[in-house]
Amino acid sequence: MHVAVVGTGYVGLVSGACFSEFGHNVICVDKDEKKIAGLKQGEMPIYEPGLQRLVEGNAEAGRLSFTTDLAEAVKDADAVFIAVGTPSRRGDGHADLSYVYAAAEEIAQAITGYTVVVTKSTVPVGTGAEVEKIIRAARPDAKFDVVSNPEFLREGAAIEDFMRPDRVVIGTESEDAREVMRELYRPLYLIETPIVFTRRQTSELIKYAANTFLATKITFINEIADLCEILDADVQDVARGIGLDGRIGRKFLHAGPGYGGSCFPKDTLALVRTAQDAGSPLRIVETVVDINAKRKKAMAQKIIDACGGAVSGKTIAVLGLTFKPNTDDMRDSPSLDIVPALIAAGAKVRAYDPKGMDEAKHMLNGVDWCKSAYDTMGDADALAILTEWNEFRALDLDKVRGLMKAPVMIDLRNIYNPDDMAEAGFDYTCIGKSKVSAAN
Ligand code: UDX
Repeated sequence: MHVAVVGTGYVGLVSGACFSEFGHNVICVDKDEKKIAGLKQGEMPIYEPGLQRLVEGNAEAGRLSFTTDLAEAVKDADAVFIAVGTPSRRGDGHADLSYVYAAAEEIAQAITGYTVVVTKSTVPVGTGAEVEKIIRAARPDAKFDVVSNPEFLREGAAIEDFMRPDRVVIGTESEDAREVMRELYRPLYLIETPIVFTRRQTSELIKYAANTFLATKITFINEIADLCEILDADVQDVARGIGLDGRIGRKFLHAGPGYGGSCFPKDTLALVRTAQDAGSPLRIVETVVDINAKRKKAMAQKIIDACGGAVSGKTIAVLGLTFKPNTDDMRDSPSLDIVPALIAAGAKVRAYDPKGMDEAKHMLNGVDWCKSAYDTMGDADALAILTEWNEFRALDLDKVRGLMKAPVMIDLRNIYNPDDMAEAGFDYTCIGKSKVSAAN
């Protein structure tokens, strides 16, 4: 089939590349000429494991191409995916749909034969209906359907999540549109991936409900972690003990500094607003949003407390700045709250992140940017791990202790084991367990 994907960000580029891997002919469209020129040269605008190889392979096979000309891409397309950004609107948390509506206007002008227009971006309930109105108003003659097909891609695992999803959700009541979508996802059909056909607004709500439930689950274990620290219990054992219950499930029960990223913070807020506007507020999710925002700020205090209550004039080595590993994405990362608070408290921060520093340099001031993990530690009074990159999981602890002024580690991702750290001569603070001091 012929597919056009409008928007070449985390969602659009991965979706376009994966659809071409399925064997479809895909044209990815973006207004950003630099980005399109780069993609034509094989330069990826984002870091996503495996994406470079996938794009190059399919571009070479002639199944994947890039253009700034939306009309050119849409005119022969059986399906057009809207995968543009839907950022939180400044100030009030509603999703900003201006890019979605602008794309709909342009698509309307370019449609020729029957076309399925698909909202792939995360959009508030009712957006599909709005897109349909926009296209119908511009083109009363056009034959088209607007379908909701939300993505459930995790950054750092996006290709895996696209190629082997737990399910595909498709929101439409048109049999013609269902036929096109079945054809599009045929390779998944063959591996018996469940396909949930439902109405458009239900599909739009499924996406938000999934993300806000996951954010709620994380916030639940984060609060249990705080309780564990007081009760001298172990949050990882609690997570394991409850997660083995099939009704709860083991995933997304890793206590940490709070969730970040381009989705959970934005989507929780947008659903809260939708619910408030509908007069049926989601009080649990409102609380989750509030707790998570406060938690990220509280993590700086945790580091300060681990340094004896003050960090003025002290050097803090910070490992990890991105909101999670295997991505370069800094959006809503806990580091954006933690690092400025440490600097405001008088600390000197030396930081390293394997992929996020280019992005971080635009978002954090007053940081000493280092070339490697060990490079941050010279004469440091404490070492704080903010993101669980694999390369931070097996530090040479003797070398770390030798480099630092004081053997103090604050591990916000529970990468290390407290007993091992005490054995290795560290004062070790983590999440959801009691602090340990260096064994004598
Ligand atoms: C999320 C959803 O997982 C994905 O399905 C959706 O399509 C987009 O949003 P993503 O934001 O890329 O994906 O990352 P994810 O792996 O879900 O982590 C989100 C945040 O939660 C990160 O800050 C991560 O550190 C945090 N997290 C995740 C925890 O703190 N604990 C966990 O157990 C899992």
